[in-house]
Amino acid sequence: MTSPPRPTLADVTRGRILYGGDYNPEQWPESVRREDVALMREAGVNLATVGVFSWARLEPRPGERDFGWLDRVLDLLHAGGIGVCLATPTASPPPWMGARHPETLPRDETGAVVWYGSRNHFCASSPVYRDHALRITADLADRYGDHPALRLWHVNNEYGTACWCDVTAAHFRRWLRDRYGSLDALNDAWGTAFWSQRYGDWEEIIPPRRAQYMVNPTQELDFRRFTSDALLECFTAERDALVERTPRIPVTTNFMPLFVGQNGWTWAEREDVVSVDLYPDPADPERDDGAAWGALVQDLTRSQARGPWLLMEQAAGPVNWRGVNHPRPEGLTRLWSLQAVARGADGICFFQWRQSRQGSEKFHSGMVSHAGPRGRTFRQVRQLGADLERLGALTGSPVTARAAVLHDWNAWWATLSAGRPSNLLTYERPLRAWHRALWESHLTCDFAHPESGLEDYALIAVPHLYLLTDAALDNLASYVRGGGTLVCGFFTGVVDTDDRVREGGVDARLREVLGIGTVHEWWPLDEGKVQPLASCGDDIAEGAVGTLWREDFETLPGTETVAAYRGGELGGRPAITRHPFGDGTAWYLSTLPDPAALRALLSRAAGEAGLRPPLPGLPTGVEAVRRGGRLFLLNHRREPATVPLPAPATDELTGRRHEHTITLGRHGAAVLREAPPA
Ligand code: GLA
Repeated sequence: MTSPPRPTLADVTRGRILYGGDYNPEQWPESVRREDVALMREAGVNLATVGVFSWARLEPRPGERDFGWLDRVLDLLHAGGIGVCLATPTASPPPWMGARHPETLPRDETGAVVWYGSRNHFCASSPVYRDHALRITADLADRYGDHPALRLWHVNNEYGTACWCDVTAAHFRRWLRDRYGSLDALNDAWGTAFWSQRYGDWEEIIPPRRAQYMVNPTQELDFRRFTSDALLECFTAERDALVERTPRIPVTTNFMPLFVGQNGWTWAEREDVVSVDLYPDPADPERDDGAAWGALVQDLTRSQARGPWLLMEQAAGPVNWRGVNHPRPEGLTRLWSLQAVARGADGICFFQWRQSRQGSEKFHSGMVSHAGPRGRTFRQVRQLGADLERLGALTGSPVTARAAVLHDWNAWWATLSAGRPSNLLTYERPLRAWHRALWESHLTCDFAHPESGLEDYALIAVPHLYLLTDAALDNLASYVRGGGTLVCGFFTGVVDTDDRVREGGVDARLREVLGIGTVHEWWPLDEGKVQPLASCGDDIAEGAVGTLWREDFETLPGTETVAAYRGGELGGRPAITRHPFGDGTAWYLSTLPDPAALRALLSRAAGEAGLRPPLPGLPTGVEAVRRGGRLFLLNHRREPATVPLPAPATDELTGRRHEHTITLGRHGAAVLREAPPA
């Protein structure tokens, strides 16, 4: 028997962009709630996320239930026409759980208890925690499954707690037995012949706890895999309890942006709706932490969702967890929200609705700030609600990207162990630099798993995938052989799935695709040091410098050296190469070029693969993305910008028609419906 199809985000949006935020009415007297609903209506809010951290209120003592207040909240929201995203409260167990069942509390690498008094203090392997979490989840579903306000389930919150306790150790061993089958296989995978680490009994195996010196890197890699899986078991168990009781309500859990602790590809497959929390730093919207960072997270989330997704949390003003917490300049929340819609979001929500007056987050902004409904924040929140109301027709529409950046958590995790050629080479650094270069070149890109089908993409970018499986290597080779363009960054394909170095420094299959021979040595660069490059052939790398990394490698006959190292130990050796392979082309970048050079190289490779920006002549700092037959223009600069238009177009936000150009104000945005060609 086949199970009925699961509901999707479209069942929640029903043709309107979702708009709202976390709503924590239990922090307020009941009298405030009527004003909340009136203000939500005024702002165009249509979704409130309720109950994220309400466990202690819902279950004041073990087994007791206090649902009355939540009944009233849901009824009130429903009467106001506001849908509810109802959370399971399992991210924050009540103090009674830690006090009565200390084994539910996580322990760190040293064995120290991570106490209650904050949040996210649970051991994912603890049967006691899991049992209590499932009971409250089931009771919530039984009580509210038929409530007319219920639109979406929100399980837990930002899963990410790792634990090193004895219960976890036993669970880790079970996971390892499933993975390896035998101790011999584990010893082989972990390379335990090194430093006398051979295990003779499963019971000897522990999580990678604090040790005298560097810990076995494959043990660490497996522990990261295991921790993601253990948390996913918690999510899946709650999801199943919800699906069984409310088959027509979709289920999500909110990701942290580009978060290391969860294998986001695997997790997303288990969700009906993929959602993410995103807090770019407004201090400098033109830096990585602003719009470029937002675009990366949005592209990744859309790719995980394989379609529209939900921005579950952002801030309407300052956060309170950076060293210095800056408010958002006028217009920035609107701009960044429209950026998310442009890149596939069908819902824009905030943490949180009303700014708290007590607790750790009282200086974190809310949609209704301490300044109240007459404050600047709420005025902007109202305006954003009106803008989003006009974009309902976009819901469900895809964003088409013909380029993809490959990303894999296994490769990321494998880079986190100590003892590598350079600590400066983090997984994120090349990833962010490359995505930013594509973003600045106006080339909309997806993210993709290295083993996934790539043939629909004209360009595949691999900033840095240290670990590549055999399947991924074969996949890349057949992609290029079939006519694709691959641009591959350094220190890629170096180890197999067990973190075992591949023969020849870089896997032979990848070297054949790239047209490179022996890789003699890695020559990493110190922070702030650069390596001049010299163009060979044309001037693409003239004046360019490499950063972070260099390699001494041979090229094979037929490989073009696009740029060579100029001066220094590697002077005259190839730095950037290009190689025809099968019907396609493979580029190799053995260093991280400066931003302008990286942009030029990726634009060149993309241009040769037939990719163009959505509009010619876009000014720097103006982002252009097409979605659902609309052209989004987003001005990330503090100055106005004028964009030439190839054809007259109407801005759906203002209803105004623009003939030859459109001028966007500081942080201005337009959503253009282009006139069909005459
Ligand atoms: C996270 C959490 C929220 C809140 C915000 C503050 O995203 O999910 O509960 O703490 O951070 O920025």
